Amino acid sequence: MLTLVLAESSIERVPKQLAEHPSVIAQAQRRGKPPGSLILDRSYHHSGMRMLERQDPSQAFEKRGRPDIAFHILLQVLGSPLNREGLLRTYVHTTEDKVIEIDPQIRLPRNYDRFVGLLEQLYEQGSVPTGEHPLLRIQDCTLTRLVDESRASMTIAFSTVGESTTMKDACSLMTGTSAPVVLIGGFAHSHFEQSTTKIADHIFSVDKEPLDAWIVAARVVYEYECGMKLPKKRLRVTEGRAFNNRPS
Ligand SMILES: C[S@@+](CC[C@H](N)C(=O)[O-])C[C@H]1O[C@@H](n2cnc3c(N)ncnc32)[C@H](O)[C@@H]1O
Repeated sequence: MLTLVLAESSIERVPKQLAEHPSVIAQAQRRGKPPGSLILDRSYHHSGMRMLERQDPSQAFEKRGRPDIAFHILLQVLGSPLNREGLLRTYVHTTEDKVIEIDPQIRLPRNYDRFVGLLEQLYEQGSVPTGEHPLLRIQDCTLTRLVDESRASMTIAFSTVGESTTMKDACSLMTGTSAPVVLIGGFAHSHFEQSTTKIADHIFSVDKEPLDAWIVAARVVYEYECGMKLPKKRLRVTEGRAFNNRPS
């Protein structure tokens, strides 16, 4: 079983200082929602975020307002054969130390705006759907606590400033251990906090350039599948079924 954590992901509600900004008000009116219930998104709120950055350059906005990164990663990994086999657990940890727990059987909206709508609902209600068996649940939780509770046998973080390794070699370490946890940054710029890197047993860089996080996530899952020979196992099952289903 592989646990994949999108660490320090750029997901949060619009902060109070931006609630009155025209870019936020306009979107809130369009959507018929209170400004503070919207998810911060640089593609809509760029001018407001730039204004806050200029007012106070110490405000770290470079890691904020990119929920699209989690969207792309989740589509890649939740649709994977590994997840379909029940061998993948996926969590989204955010820069505000919240953790979104995801039922592996969820079918996420394929449309980005609908995904953001789902996040807004999640932040409002705490779970979606509400009730005993939510598909998404959000809680306050640090990354350290999440990794501890996952009882990780090995924690591997992927970062451009890690030790250079091929993805195949990094993943063969994972398949050799019972409960590996992988950390992939759910942000576009900057690096992991020290509190994140100190959790990791290994930090690997898998290319000479920064790649999109969803490319790294998809490759981790695929190499892990290959390491456990999952593609062949699944084809054998399918071939068997096809053979058995042939009319006699
Ligand atoms: C767009 S990158 C953030 C770039 C950041 N400068 C960094 O150091 O990783 C988002 C995430 O993708 C993964 N990533 C991107 N390029 C990578 C690479 N060459 N090696 C390992 N991980 C990478 C990392 O997990 C990273 O946190």
